[in-house]
Amino acid sequence: MIKPYIICHMVTSIDGKVTGEFLSKPSCEAATDIYYELNREYNKNGANGFICGRVTMEGSFTGGWYPDLSEYPPYDSFDDFIHDDLSGFYAVSFDPSGKLGWKSDKIIDEDPGYGGAQVIEVLTKKVDLRYLSYLRSMNIPYIFAGETEIDVKVSLEKLYTLLNITALLLEGGSIVNGYFQRAEVIDELSLVVAPIVADAEDKPLFMASMVSDFELKEIKKYKSSVTWLNYKRK
Ligand SMILES: NC(=O)c1ccc[n+]([C@@H]2O[C@H](COP(=O)([O-])OP(=O)(O)OC[C@H]3O[C@@H](n4cnc5c(N)ncnc54)[C@H](OP(=O)(O)O)[C@@H]3O)[C@@H](O)[C@H]2O)c1
Repeated sequence: MIKPYIICHMVTSIDGKVTGEFLSKPSCEAATDIYYELNREYNKNGANGFICGRVTMEGSFTGGWYPDLSEYPPYDSFDDFIHDDLSGFYAVSFDPSGKLGWKSDKIIDEDPGYGGAQVIEVLTKKVDLRYLSYLRSMNIPYIFAGETEIDVKVSLEKLYTLLNITALLLEGGSIVNGYFQRAEVIDELSLVVAPIVADAEDKPLFMASMVSDFELKEIKKYKSSVTWLNYKRK
């Protein structure tokens, strides 16, 4: 299968959780800083951007704003929308129903690991057709990959062949990571382990996972009790 190389890059608690209040505790600050440093390193070394699930994109970038779709006519075609004016560095948004409200076609963020990334929406056919007109009006490219759930393999093949994307960071959350893990498309794991145990209710690295083998390639211990674990798929 032709696809970008996928690196799942996450901050985790000691007990392997990736969501929840523990992320905003002072003892998690150093891990978060190291996470962003490593993100920039991966970008320097050839990653063409990052993938996030709809919930993470909303929490980190769109802030829960939604366009008023009554202003847009339905765009009655499931053709992919890719235009020529693309930057080559992407924020790939797994948004099956087309819920996210983007105010710009690029990510606005001070961190160079994210700021300026070209937004691309990965949709399914359950999208409201007016959302397609809205994306077109914003010049935001989109691709289709599935009827009601995103078929991860189809989406990755399209990202590779239509956009020349050869490597991407998969940056959560738990649900989207789980889809990728079950599709067996994760080539590398980059886990920044914070010295903290999470709440029982918090979500694991992979929601709904299956058994698969990885081998440890590198381990780094930082002064702040943070550990970086780097695994490759066997
Ligand atoms: N520790 C870290 O490094 C890290 C990194 C990033 C995020 N996070 C945390 O993760 C939390 C959010 O994670 P989450 O697991 O709740 O959500 P998520 O993975 O960010 O987003 C899940 C949503 O994405 C859509 N989706 C993704 N893949 C899909 C597929 N293959 N088919 C259909 N839909 C798909 C669905 O959207 P719909 O609901 O619209 O159907 C799904 O509900 C945030 O609280 C954030 O703080 C942590």
